Amino acid sequence: MDDSENTSTNPRILDGVSSIGDLIERRLSRRTLLRGGAGAVALALAPGLASCATSDGAQATRFDFPEIPRGSGASHLLPEGYSAQVLLRWGDALFADSPPFTPSAQTAAAQNRQFGYNNDFIGFVPLDEAGRHGLLCVNHEYTSTPLMFPNVASDLPGRMTAELCAVERAAHGASIVEIRETNGRWRVVNPSRYNRRVTADTPMILTGPAAGHPRLATSADPSGRSVAGTINNCAGGITPWGTYLAAEENFNLYFVGAVAQDHPEARNHARYGVPARIYAWGRFDPRFDVSREPNEPNRFGWIVEIDPRNPEAPPKKRTALGRFKHEGAESVVAPDGRVVLYMGDDQRFDYVYKFVTARAYNPSTPEVNRDLLDDGALYVARFDESGDVIWMPLVHGQGPLTAENGFHSQADVLIETRRAADLLGATPMDRPEDVEPNPATGRVYVSLTNNSARTPENVNAANPRANNIAGHVIEIIEPGGDFTALQSRWEILVLCGDPANPEAGATWNVATSANGWFGSPDNVAIDPRGRLWVATDGNEFTGADDGLWALETEGALRGAGRAFFRAPVGAEVCGPRFAPDGRTLFLAVQHPGDGSSASYEAPTTRWPDFDAATPPRPAVLAIRRNDGGAVGG
Ligand code: FEO
Ligand code: CA
Ligand code: CA
Ligand code: CA
Repeated sequence: MDDSENTSTNPRILDGVSSIGDLIERRLSRRTLLRGGAGAVALALAPGLASCATSDGAQATRFDFPEIPRGSGASHLLPEGYSAQVLLRWGDALFADSPPFTPSAQTAAAQNRQFGYNNDFIGFVPLDEAGRHGLLCVNHEYTSTPLMFPNVASDLPGRMTAELCAVERAAHGASIVEIRETNGRWRVVNPSRYNRRVTADTPMILTGPAAGHPRLATSADPSGRSVAGTINNCAGGITPWGTYLAAEENFNLYFVGAVAQDHPEARNHARYGVPARIYAWGRFDPRFDVSREPNEPNRFGWIVEIDPRNPEAPPKKRTALGRFKHEGAESVVAPDGRVVLYMGDDQRFDYVYKFVTARAYNPSTPEVNRDLLDDGALYVARFDESGDVIWMPLVHGQGPLTAENGFHSQADVLIETRRAADLLGATPMDRPEDVEPNPATGRVYVSLTNNSARTPENVNAANPRANNIAGHVIEIIEPGGDFTALQSRWEILVLCGDPANPEAGATWNVATSANGWFGSPDNVAIDPRGRLWVATDGNEFTGADDGLWALETEGALRGAGRAFFRAPVGAEVCGPRFAPDGRTLFLAVQHPGDGSSASYEAPTTRWPDFDAATPPRPAVLAIRRNDGGAVGG
């Protein structure tokens, strides 16, 4: 969505991004560019590079499913013996009074009562012991405007109206949906006392050290403590106490207008790419116009905590977790009971973070955990050539984070997390997406989706390829399984791309088949058996639609990929989430039918309904093995 980058530190050669116009052009033609953009890569072998290329085939795979072939198609594809149920589609009813889905005449009132657009993160909060009844928590990251509305694609954002923008705002945010499984079939419970829509207009509160700071105050909210809505919620997490974290990512896309170069927020806004002027909302709602409300962008870019069991509770933006283009927020309980969250900032040359709560999680007294995320320490990662990860605290008054550099309080450090991390010398990464801890092994998987702007001059040990169009996966090893450690180890699990092309510099295990390799890793999941699964966003350059791959992390097959799911054309795959029994995999298919010139009238597929009058619909699938066994074998 936003292919701009951190240009704040070392000077870099920018590959053609010199204006907002270029940014929009790049956004619209990203997939086309990637298709033709292989180019030569210079591979500097990192000291921490894992050795995967063993030919010892003695160890059996931990996965048992027949691989699907590489390719592209109008529908999704699964291994033989598996089936997918379309559980929730954009426009589906969530409430007794939800109007029918009428794509040709959408209204904000209807969309507010229906499942939103572009499902991304999926969480599952069980309501029974077996995990066959629970709450599905789904992010609606953004709206694909040309695919969503009739007769707009030829002139955007010019054809947008106030009402269409209101529909888009209602299609953003999150859905909480009660679901139940009977005999292998899931159904949406409706009516349900839990079902809820959270949108770009839902009242929510700011909490933690930055709440109430004057930099968060606007004319609508002089207190700096209450905010309307959440936007661009990408990946996220479920906490040990059963709340749902939705990560606000590319919030800059929604802002228009400008502040003067000498405005106190000018440097801050520039570091976050505000305003990007992609959406038209600011034409009709002054809060998205920074010339009118220069502090409004400071109220986005946070982790939002939602209590799915309490539909009346306002969501809370937890400022202690920092402000950046948040991707995941998966957490784990450390041996001493404190909770550790891992987070990426998905921008080229931005950083990996972790947050450690000040207090321990208390499983027996849930109310004690209610505000655990308001108090703790935020750290940013430096990946050293020695193979160490140094976690550097973002604490006001320490090191360069002082008034001299414009940080007058911890609130300033949190509002401008990126600039604080720049000054600490964090390692610029190749677009950190999901970051997933494996509680059983003490290891953490970092998806680095790609970075075509990495040059031979600015490779580093943890990001060793120039023009990294294929991305890579890093494994962090927390010493002795202590997730709170401030010094960890790291290795590259796999450098993605085509292993048959020496110029790609890929490092798959030799057991990987011609279908088993991929590019552009994004959302990752650990299944109940502790195995790693990787979903992709931007894999088309490899000649295959985006999909889901199993990736071995242990033994002789470590670094071997295996193709499990292929999305319909134009879609990326998000939110892999296994039901607690491992027998259902929930998968989000985002922006099906997309393409460089795709529109409502001419999408690249009409998945999943395949009805000539219905546009493609982002949807959540429930995938099961036909014999009811564990997904993945
Ligand atoms: Fe929304 Fe970084 O993917
Ligand atoms: Ca993502
Ligand atoms: Ca994940
Ligand atoms: Ca992505």
